[in-house]
Amino acid sequence: MISFATHLLKYISMIELSERLKAMEESATIAMSRKSRELKAEGKDVISLSLGEPDFFTPQFIKDAAVEAMNNNFTMYTPVPGYDDLREAISMKFSRDNGLNYTKDQIVVSTGAKQSIANVVLSLVDEGDEVIIPAPYWVSYLEIVKVAEGTPVVINAGIEKDFKITGKDLEAAITPKTKLMIFSTPCNPTGSVYTKEELRDLADVLVKYPNIVVISDEIYEHINFSGKHVSLAQFSDVYDQVVTVNGVSKAWAMTGWRLGYIGAPKVIADACNKAHHK
Ligand SMILES: Cc1ncc(COP(=O)(O)O)c(C=O)c1O
Repeated sequence: MISFATHLLKYISMIELSERLKAMEESATIAMSRKSRELKAEGKDVISLSLGEPDFFTPQFIKDAAVEAMNNNFTMYTPVPGYDDLREAISMKFSRDNGLNYTKDQIVVSTGAKQSIANVVLSLVDEGDEVIIPAPYWVSYLEIVKVAEGTPVVINAGIEKDFKITGKDLEAAITPKTKLMIFSTPCNPTGSVYTKEELRDLADVLVKYPNIVVISDEIYEHINFSGKHVSLAQFSDVYDQVVTVNGVSKAWAMTGWRLGYIGAPKVIADACNKAHHK
């Protein structure tokens, strides 16, 4: 008699994973983090520069507010784009900290900035669409683009340029297939921060290509040691082309809470909302 376990093993071994998943590389960040855990377990003194985990804990007032919310039974399904008052609070944050005007219906909350980025990419990118990614970049950008069957177009920005691209670099990478650009400022992994002038230089190019959308990943907004943070969407002539991504993971040491959001042109916010629905 074949045991249940044998049945199960046979069944598992017949499962064929999708080509899409097989093409995904293991996240270098996760691999590094695992390695550092292994070395620590061997008693080695390791400084891990892998996962972007803040070196402080979620502030007490946030934990208290969460406990109070749970005690008030905020424990059920939320509206798909997030609670109205949360989206209003995010709208106020964008206005106060970034000078950005996003109404509530331009804001979509998700389970982390990573999911926000994935939603935007899946909403916009079709097979063969090109997505410009300045390097060094956060490893997940490339994998997300590949899952969407887009074609990553990497622009290398070396140390001599403080790991930042110029408008000229950007324009040289644009083709009729370019759909999207994804970058972060402050940048993970380099820590480089684009100045207002450098962003203006990029905006001067983008304004000539109104069909190109930019994901401006600003999750590290408050982990900035080199000057004031500037948002690309501040420039009114490219505001309609920019999706501003942010969240609470880094600024508030809430990596495990999984809360991210976008401020976006309404058509993209609606698309992400639709992607969430499904
Ligand atoms: C540049 C960048 N964007 C987004 C994220 C993801 O943030 P979240 O925890 O909100 O998904 C990370 C996490 O390390 C990151 O480094």
